[in-house]
Order: sequence, then structure tokens, then C-alpha cells
Amino acid sequence: MNNSEIERISEETIDKYRKYVNPGMAAILGFSGFAVPEDSAEGCYITDISGRKFLDCVGGYGAFSLGHRNPDVVAAVKAQLDKEALKSHFFMSTELADACEALASVLPGDICYSFLCNSGTEAVEGALKCARIHTGRSEYVGAINGFHGKSYGSLSVSGREVYKAPFNPLLESTKHVPFGDAAAMEAAVSENTAAVILELVQGEAGVNVADGDYFRKVREICDKKGALLIFDEVRTAFGRTGKMFASEHYGVQPDIVTMAKALGGGVMPVGAFSAGPEIWNSMFGRNPYLHSTTFGGNPLACAAVIAAIETTKKLGVVERSAKLGKTLLENLKGLQDKYPQVIKDVRGLGLLAGVEFVHEDYASMTIACCGKRDLLVAYSLNNPKVIRVEPPLIIEESELDTAVKIIYEAVGEAVEMLGLPE
Ligand SMILES: Cc1ncc(COP(=O)(O)O)c(C=O)c1O
Repeated sequence: MNNSEIERISEETIDKYRKYVNPGMAAILGFSGFAVPEDSAEGCYITDISGRKFLDCVGGYGAFSLGHRNPDVVAAVKAQLDKEALKSHFFMSTELADACEALASVLPGDICYSFLCNSGTEAVEGALKCARIHTGRSEYVGAINGFHGKSYGSLSVSGREVYKAPFNPLLESTKHVPFGDAAAMEAAVSENTAAVILELVQGEAGVNVADGDYFRKVREICDKKGALLIFDEVRTAFGRTGKMFASEHYGVQPDIVTMAKALGGGVMPVGAFSAGPEIWNSMFGRNPYLHSTTFGGNPLACAAVIAAIETTKKLGVVERSAKLGKTLLENLKGLQDKYPQVIKDVRGLGLLAGVEFVHEDYASMTIACCGKRDLLVAYSLNNPKVIRVEPPLIIEESELDTAVKIIYEAVGEAVEMLGLPE
């Protein structure tokens, strides 16, 4: 494609975004230097229509743990597509049965039942409904800056006002407490609490990792007050933090788990919520159609889930994430040592790392300067001072070294352009 064609397609696409998609987004993408549309992707790389190749350390915010277009997942989905794409819902589905069995083989503790849906926010909606029907209570407690999605229920339990206030009134009776503060949790949970919902590592809040004992204390509080504990593992499940489920780091068993992102192997959009027999009986025992979906658990999604779980085990990506995550964190801590006036903190678990700057301008400038050097790193929706490094778990050590080197250069350039803070 020649330059004038690339320019024409880019401008036409921005114009269509302006007219038919989202004018604000058109302005942001046009301004940020990412105005050339992406074209294809493979492994850890995304290629735009000009042929420029980017090392992807955003990783679809966790969706591309197996990289882009993992060949085994693609083959499984293609084979299913040649057989049957969507189900009639008149018959049973062997694909759904097999996918839920595969999930049960990796889910923590006695959690064996799963409901497959299409996204993370749907998974959270289902989990909230489960907790309400099982406990007969209506209140929820979440964490400040927690992120659980943007449909009404999940937005209600999320903890950043800027995305919530325009849609008030949301679900009544939700409380938010500081993440990691067990005493605040104790004070917030009452005999009316249906569930506490938490991420194990707060992603959009800027990669917040709680102290070792926090989740155990929250478990005790929930048990004492008769509330359920929902772990939102939409971002963290399937190896992102160096364990299959992040809850394994803390040895704490949730009542309900939500998943999405990596669940579809980076090929199909799939979400799920899962729980043990008692909760499932409350939800589906009296009426198996109390919660249902047309597209959730479709055979293409199920083929992707089965292949994703098999491939996650076969490639050993969970162990890989733990090992490479340690190196990544050490290297990023070196960056903080180099720029202590600009970088406030570096934290993470597995291949989910965050760099917190003293001001959000340094973060957005660093993201732009990485982009200039063909590296993609992520913005944090609920804490714009933090950039996130969330590469595919299949990333090679040498590629991760390249990413770190570029981040060093990008921070250097950001400091040059913005100066040091006073
Ligand atoms: C922890 C968590 N829960 C829920 C969601 C919502 O998922 P989705 O965007 O698929 O609705 C996200 C999305 O980033 C997430 O990080």
C-alpha cells in the first residue's frame, strides 16, 4: 500500500468514527499518533495498514495471554465453524458440556458449575444476581477504584465516580472501601450484604496489589456476616499473575469467580461466572431459565475455551508469567531508581506490571513515546498516573528486554519534554 492510500484509508476511518462511531474517540486517536488503523496481528505483534509492526504490551488488557491468533485456538474455532456456528437451543450442546467440564478442571476448590456469556461485565452481572438470590440480601461492597465493567450492575459495584455519576441512580445499596483495608471492609459488611466483590490485583485502578493477609481477612469477614465473596478474575485468570487464578497466591477460596478476556484464547469473546453446587442450586434449581443468554456458550466460544485451557497448560504460560514477571518488575524498579522524582512506584504480580508517575502527563507522554518506538503499553482507566505493561504471556525474554529498553528511552524523552517536577 502506498503512502497516499494509507493516508486516505486513515482519514476515511477517522471520518467514519466521527460520523458513525464516536466523535470524541476520533479526536483522541487522531491526536495521539495512533490514527493509522491496525490491520493484522500475530503472536506478540500488531501490524497497522502501513505495515508498521508494534510489540504489544497492552495484550488486549489481558485478552491476549496466548498472543494474537494462537494457532491451536484458531484451528479449533475454524473446525467448529465448519461444523456449526451457533446453536438452536432446542438440543443439548456437547461443546458447552465439554467447555464447562474443562473449566471445572482448573477452577479453584469445589467450584464446578459455569455459565458462559460474552463479556466480563455480563459475567459480573450474573455473579451479582447469584449472590442476591442465594443470600436473599441486596447490598454489595466493592473497592474504591475497582473496575468490574460498564453495564448497570457491574458499574454500580465499580469504584470510580467519573464513569458512574452520569448514570445515577445505579444499583442502590453499594458501598466502596479502600482496597487492602480490612478494617474498612469489616465496618462496611453487614447482615444485609449479599456479596463483597473484589479484583485480586486491581487492574484499571493502576495495578494495586494487596498485602498477603488481606483476602484471608475479607474471607473471614464474609463468613462471619453471611455474605458471599466474589473474586473478579476477568483480567487475572489463566496465568496473568503467575498462577492459574490469582486467588491461588493468597490461598483464599471465593464463592463465585468471574472470568473473561483470556478465557476465549484471544480469538473469541467469552465470559463466565462459576460457583459451587449450593449457589448454583439457588440460582438455577427452581428455574433453569432464571438467567439465560442467546449467544453465551455458543459452540465457537466453547471451542475457543477448550483450546485455550489446553494451550495454557501445554505452553506452560502460567509458570512463564511468574518467572518473566519477576524480571520485568526488577527491571522496572531500576527505572524508578533512575527517575525517582518522576516515578512514584512500580508494582505488579506476574506479567501485570504498573509504573506510577507523579503526574498523569508523564504517563500519557511515556505511552506516546513508546508508541513512537513501536511499543504499545496501556493507560489505566481509573488511575491515569499509571501505565501498565501487560504483554502476552508467550512473550520471549528478549522481546520483554526490548520492551523495557524502550520504556527507559520513552521515560527519558518524556522527562526531557516535560521537565522534572518542581
Ligand atoms: C476486572 C474486570 N472486570 C470486568 C471487566 C469488564 O469486562 P468487559 O470489558 O469484557 O465487559 C474488566 C474489563 O477490563 C475488568 O478488568
